[in-house]
Amino acid sequence: MTRLAVRHGAINLAQGFPDFPAPAALKSAASEAIDADINQYAITWGSKPFRDAIAAKYQRTYGMDFDPEREVTVCCGATEGMIASLLAVLDPGDEVVLFEPFYENYGPDTQLCGATSRYVKLQAPDWTFDPDELRAAFSSRTKAIILNSPNNPTGKVFSREELECIARLCQEFDCLAITDEIYEHILYDGTVHVPIMSLPGMRDRSILVNSMSKTYSVTGWRVGWVLASPDLTDSIRKVHDFLTVGAAAPLQQAGVTALSLPDDYYTHLSTEYAARRDHIVSSLERAGFTCFIPDGAYYVMTDISAFKYVDDASFVRHLITHLGVAAVPGSSFFAHTNLGNQFVRFCFCKKYETLELARQQLYKL
Ligand SMILES: Cc1ncc(COP(=O)(O)O)c(C=O)c1O
Repeated sequence: MTRLAVRHGAINLAQGFPDFPAPAALKSAASEAIDADINQYAITWGSKPFRDAIAAKYQRTYGMDFDPEREVTVCCGATEGMIASLLAVLDPGDEVVLFEPFYENYGPDTQLCGATSRYVKLQAPDWTFDPDELRAAFSSRTKAIILNSPNNPTGKVFSREELECIARLCQEFDCLAITDEIYEHILYDGTVHVPIMSLPGMRDRSILVNSMSKTYSVTGWRVGWVLASPDLTDSIRKVHDFLTVGAAAPLQQAGVTALSLPDDYYTHLSTEYAARRDHIVSSLERAGFTCFIPDGAYYVMTDISAFKYVDDASFVRHLITHLGVAAVPGSSFFAHTNLGNQFVRFCFCKKYETLELARQQLYKL
């Protein structure tokens, strides 16, 4: 969709990356690190100062303790963190439970490991799941469930009760929860993020994947991390070493500055995105979309049935080529693509000028 948007000069509300500058303190820290000649390989599982900063941040935010020497692996974004974790723990023939719709990488990631995905529906409008359907997706072959909260594409933030239900199944079926928490700090209306790893019985059966991309508006830096017990970390580090060797050393150093930012940085981030969310929702609703208001992350999933298009892809193609606004067809987030063919996802991690331009174009629908 980004390529199509570029070809047609369309406003890109498809791919989730900010079009505004990264925080000045991070840019200075990155150039200072390069000037200080932090330009060679960091140790493969991440520079010590950055691993220490990650451990300190989790202690400060969630009261969770991680040993930076044995439980933290720095990698090239959450993208690598997820595939490295899956390759470390899955064997061909294993099964992985996925909530559908899902961030599109998880399907191919699972396939690359030779594992099979079992899907459980998140039901609009509030994207809840049926606990019986979830239970039925688990079996003796299940090795892991992948959980993304706050969720892309739906904006759902899993409640503590929902997480407890998932945690009980992980324990009953002796499997892992592999969590993508990349939107942990983008939360609205007082919603709280709970890492499933912090729940009783889950410390050693969870793998927590996260990244600097979204929280610090640096999606191009490609710096992420994986937190897991020493045994799991040992396997993840081996895969990571052979996949990428390591993330960019000077950017890991800048990560120390990022993860040491004061709490009001995160409050400001959420407040800012809440205003942008309200802006895009009002534009979309006035243009005739039904919006599912997100509790977290920076996407709005919409229902396009009012426009009477045969499917989401032809609708989005029309949006791009005739109105100059790009979005993502909802079916891209479904394995059963027919379930998503009346959904379209818009992202709002954009400047107000961009959102305003999009508003004017969308009114022409
Ligand atoms: C849920 C989710 N996980 C991971 C990523 C990619 O993360 P990274 O840039 O850290 O590789 C994205 C990017 O959109 C995402 O939405």
